[in-house]
Amino acid sequence: MKKLLIVPFALLFSSAALAEEPPKTDWVAKCKTCHGPELAGKAKAPAIAGEAVAKLKASLTTKIPKPMTAISKAMTPADIDAVSDAISKLPKPPAPPPAPATP
Ligand code: HEC
Repeated sequence: MKKLLIVPFALLFSSAALAEEPPKTDWVAKCKTCHGPELAGKAKAPAIAGEAVAKLKASLTTKIPKPMTAISKAMTPADIDAVSDAISKLPKPPAPPPAPATP
């Protein structure tokens, strides 16, 4: 009988905790999956660390590159502001990644 009482209480507490602190998506980590661990560029994705806020915002609002369609749709305007601000404050990568040797 005791267990039946504990379960509703556990649910109550866990949902209260969720309401206070909603799980936050780490958007910068998502950018890193394509733009490299230092946001210094990877494959077709250019370096974006230290990029101007306006350009970062545009890439998620008005000038969305095709590969970024899904992520831009998943983000709220507040997410986009926060991520653009955070990435613009990162140090610019020292040098572009080496270009592949052309035969
Ligand atoms: C699914 C992979 C992917 C993810 C995730 C991604 N990007 Fe990109 N991004 C790209 C690619 C590929 C390009 C180059 C597109 C092109 O040249 O057409 C790009 C280009 C850019 C550019 C340059 C746009 C320009 O006009 O030169 C910026 C700025 C940018 N991304 C910011 C971000 C930010 C900020 C995030 C995280 C919120 C992010 N990207 C997440 C793949 C991605």
